[in-house]
Amino acid sequence: MSHHVLVLSGPNLAALGSREPEIYGTLTLAAIEAQVADEAASLGLEVSCRQTDDEAQLVGWLHEAAAAGWDVVLNPAAFTHYSYAVGDACAHLTGTGSRLIEVHLSNPASREAFRHTSVVARSATGTIAGFGAGSYLLALRALAAQDR
Ligand code: DQA
Repeated sequence: MSHHVLVLSGPNLAALGSREPEIYGTLTLAAIEAQVADEAASLGLEVSCRQTDDEAQLVGWLHEAAAAGWDVVLNPAAFTHYSYAVGDACAHLTGTGSRLIEVHLSNPASREAFRHTSVVARSATGTIAGFGAGSYLLALRALAAQDR
């Protein structure tokens, strides 16, 4: 049975392609989302991708996923490090039985100290970081592998 996965990207990720390419690579978010759509199709998953710079919007989408029973792949971007509102919405999501994979293009653990804290991680089913666009694709594979 195919199930729905919401792929959410947080603040500043719409600027991928030109944003610090030495850290985040040269792919645009649209290019990454195209890879996500291809990977999902080959895994038999239904996906939809959304991006926002807005904390309230992201919280709303996490609540929507919780109510609908969708799994979520989330790159919370800078919210990762300080947004208790996003962290609490993630706790609500996984508390309802949905799975949540936290993803990062870079590896925050090998960067500045403020990036070493994730207020989302405690509620995540798992975390994948450091593989560029591959982090999103590996997250889909992890969800599909657990379904089998
Ligand atoms: C990021 C890492 C965060 O520390 C940063 O604030 C981002 C992107 C990543 O994908 O590597 O915006 O989540």
